[in-house]
Amino acid sequence: MTIEIIILAAGQGTRMRSALPKVLHCIGGKPMLQHIIETSIKLKPQTIHVVVGHEKDWVTREINKLNVVEETGALINWVEQAEQLGTGHAVMQATSWANPSSTILILNGDTPLIQPETVSPLITHSESLNLLTVELDDPVGMGRVIRDEEGQIRKIVEHKDANPGQLLIKEINTNCMAGNAAQITKWLARIKNQNAQNEYYLPDSIVGAVSDGVPVNGIHAHKQEEVAGVNSRLDLSKLERKYQSIQANRLLFEGVTLLDPDRLDIRGECQIGMDCVIDINVIFEGDVSIGNNCVIGANSIIKNSTIGDQCIIEPNSLIDQSILGDGCQIGPFARIRPGTHLGKRVKIGNFVETKKSKIDNESKVNHLSYVGDSLIGKSVNVGAGVITCNYDGANKHQTSIGDDVFIGSGSQLVAPVEIGKGATIGAGSTITKNAPEGTLTIGRSKQKSIPDWVKPSEK
Ligand code: UD1
Ligand code: CA
Repeated sequence: MTIEIIILAAGQGTRMRSALPKVLHCIGGKPMLQHIIETSIKLKPQTIHVVVGHEKDWVTREINKLNVVEETGALINWVEQAEQLGTGHAVMQATSWANPSSTILILNGDTPLIQPETVSPLITHSESLNLLTVELDDPVGMGRVIRDEEGQIRKIVEHKDANPGQLLIKEINTNCMAGNAAQITKWLARIKNQNAQNEYYLPDSIVGAVSDGVPVNGIHAHKQEEVAGVNSRLDLSKLERKYQSIQANRLLFEGVTLLDPDRLDIRGECQIGMDCVIDINVIFEGDVSIGNNCVIGANSIIKNSTIGDQCIIEPNSLIDQSILGDGCQIGPFARIRPGTHLGKRVKIGNFVETKKSKIDNESKVNHLSYVGDSLIGKSVNVGAGVITCNYDGANKHQTSIGDDVFIGSGSQLVAPVEIGKGATIGAGSTITKNAPEGTLTIGRSKQKSIPDWVKPSEK
């Protein structure tokens, strides 16, 4: 059986009140359309037809950037719906591309949490038209499923077209359906736009199936959040919390302690080892990988980084595009900027900023320092308030510090500069020339005291 998927993503999403096309609004840091495409790929279709219209260049540009699309690019067929005349009209633009014998699965770009296991029962060999429905406590705005005395589905009535009796029905159309391509094309050709919105409604294709005597199977979705559509920012915010709670539950099952599962946000992919403890208000962004037995303090943000085992990230630290070896201790209030590569058991303390720097095993930068464009060896101690002066106003230069060096507090290392192995830099030095191995280097004006000096007195 060949499966082709049609994703509806041409609508503006007026109810979002946004310049950004609705399907590019994010859940868990990923555009809704990306979620649907990822789910679609798991169903192994021959082709994914994505119907775009409103801001189509914006939508295709953003989605084409994604790795998932690059890896499976050949699968995606962008179909234009120049005027948004309704969901039925949108599907009609795509069916002409489909093989008539294929089974078509229709998904909506604004239903981001739908999972492959939920839609796969819709994909069958049979002649029937299969529709995913769900019971909602609050079905406002949704198309109601109208069944006859035998319980057979007869049609869908949109909220705006429904009479008071129909509005009481809680079973709604998720707008996710599957059937034979040729048949769906035939039924869509018969639909009209005489309704409250003057649109060609996809669910009206059901009427065609019923009049041709083709069974319409209603398949119940058990998880409401999976089939919930996003029409407004309120819907988006609710779904974001549901998505986050699914992510948090996954981590709990994988052996991670979350001090409050409701106060963690995952915006991307994150892998966390066993027995880690995550305090409140932590945010993981992009690709994050954390080893075993780590502690992540409150209010920390970790983006696109890899953290080894047994690391402790104290509260309010930001780690971005960096790699931390085992046993590192960071923060509180540390800013680990892109290109930081820490060896094992490195300590970075409060109000320290690092950037594009390699700091080897057991080295410490404990207080109020800036380390940029630097290579720091093993067991180095960088005192409080040390600055690598890496920028001359035009170019960046490197600071190189050998193993076992001690840099006294309040020193400035004016790059390019090298501090040899085992050297000591006296506190308060401004170092502009290389400091040889094993020496004590002091670069500050000599201190003197004036014994016969008289304190000024008030006149
Ligand atoms: C639709 C269904 C409704 C169902 C609900 C479930 C119709 C007429 N109604 O309503 O029965 O309960 O979904 O969430 O289908 N789109 C296009 N081109 C268009 C119009 C829409 O591509 O011309 C896309 C939108 O971008 C969106 C999807 O189709 O991704 C659904 O459209 P939307 O306007 O949100 O439909 P609903 O009013 O939610
Ligand atoms: Ca919708």
